[in-house]
Amino acid sequence: MNTLDSLQRRHWLGAALATGLAPAFLRHAWAADQPRFAQGVASGFPRPDGMVLWTRLTGPDLPERVEVQWEVAHDERFSQMVAKGTCTAEAAWAHSVHAEPAGLAPDRWYFYRFRALGDQSSVGRTRSTPAPDAVRPLRFVIASCQRYDAGHFAAWRQAVTDAPDLVVFLGDYIYEYASRADALRRHEGGAAVTLDQYRARYATYQSDPLLQAAHAACPWVSIWDDHEVENDYAGLQSQTLDPAFRFRRSAAYQAHWEHLPYPQALRPDRGEARIHGTLDWGALARLIRLDGRQFRDPQVCPKPGRGGSNTLTRQACPAFDEPGRSLLGRPQEQWLANAWDDRRPWNLLAQPTLMSPFSWTDPGAPEGGTWWTDGWDGYAPARQRLLDDLAARRVANAVVLGGDVHTHYVSQLHRVARDPASPILASEFCGSSITSPSLPQSRVAGALPFNPHVLYGRADQRGTISFVLTPQRLEATLTAVDNLADPASPVRVAARYVVEAGKPGPVAA
Ligand SMILES: [Fe+2]
Repeated sequence: MNTLDSLQRRHWLGAALATGLAPAFLRHAWAADQPRFAQGVASGFPRPDGMVLWTRLTGPDLPERVEVQWEVAHDERFSQMVAKGTCTAEAAWAHSVHAEPAGLAPDRWYFYRFRALGDQSSVGRTRSTPAPDAVRPLRFVIASCQRYDAGHFAAWRQAVTDAPDLVVFLGDYIYEYASRADALRRHEGGAAVTLDQYRARYATYQSDPLLQAAHAACPWVSIWDDHEVENDYAGLQSQTLDPAFRFRRSAAYQAHWEHLPYPQALRPDRGEARIHGTLDWGALARLIRLDGRQFRDPQVCPKPGRGGSNTLTRQACPAFDEPGRSLLGRPQEQWLANAWDDRRPWNLLAQPTLMSPFSWTDPGAPEGGTWWTDGWDGYAPARQRLLDDLAARRVANAVVLGGDVHTHYVSQLHRVARDPASPILASEFCGSSITSPSLPQSRVAGALPFNPHVLYGRADQRGTISFVLTPQRLEATLTAVDNLADPASPVRVAARYVVEAGKPGPVAA
């Protein structure tokens, strides 16, 4: 990085964070001054007694194996040390560090940092989850779709200033695409295909000071969608039907694990990875994570000679209603059926896309509506199996969280998904994107009357959704960034909704 770049970045960080309400340590969170830790620090997958602490060593002439020290303290000056240890960063895993301290106290905030090769990382803040029997509120943010070349990450500043307990990232952490020549800021190189190219793409994204600040602010849990590998891939089928796709997917899965605070136990093995799982927030809520890509059947009715998605009527594609197809794969469907929690008052389902049906034309017309094949509408019988399970298990207060479609949607999920006259079974909040562009709002507005269960749909808003969850209610605040070209852009409240416990369905607040 040259000096001008460095000064500009410093200015952005100052403008973006120093004027906000961010805790003092976050003003020092940006890591480019630490040449061995230039991609910052992160934490994730919190438990009552610990969490994963992440960094990746950077800079020239790194040895094959490097000893890295990690430290956890009660205070950001590290005068009250709580735990420390060492681990080995290996070239084979991009010198990433996934340290897993244990024995910490539940429901507490901590500070952490790393040391290696004579350099010290910036400081991150993290926390443990409440003890399993403790009822504590949960503040969390959902975010997705942070296309670096489409704009600055001003939306993340809101995530920092709102001081959430947890960020739930719902997919499209990177985009594999090459950038257009006129992009606001560019992806280096062409499309990412090889392991080195995916690693370089993560390095570009993680050079962003606002993304670094969001990682340093609190623990994350994450799932992936398609762009961590390739647009619209399904299992081992690529959008272009590339016969060598399994090698590309394997490289992408490895780079994904290397660059996010996943536990060691979830490290990919022979091209396969496990990202689905559960996280309990004391006795208040269970958060269930789903993998919507690795195990899915290919999309129905693709364009000729291709894989991937299409948008077409039911009449044109009778395969929409084939019962055997799955978005999760049958083993994950079975796993999910047993993962719902009937003791905690809330179940939060973190999955990559919009679950509510969404037709672009009148579904009552003879052609049967117009649907997008990549989302749950392309796997409607599988969606109905999921909802049938939810109803059969009498899951209390289910809330579906999603992303992918670059549009803020708030909706009611009905007992029979495509019958809005059937009872409301769950609430859905599908967050828009950090930056990724969407359709013109006029198209979404034109389709909303065909989808009366969708209460809110705004394609022209980029942002996250912040939540406050208590035993009595879930409060949701949808945000919208004024100007993607400005890292210091204001971020406004676009809408607020509430879900009262025992009354499924969001209500405008
Ligand atoms: Fe996306």
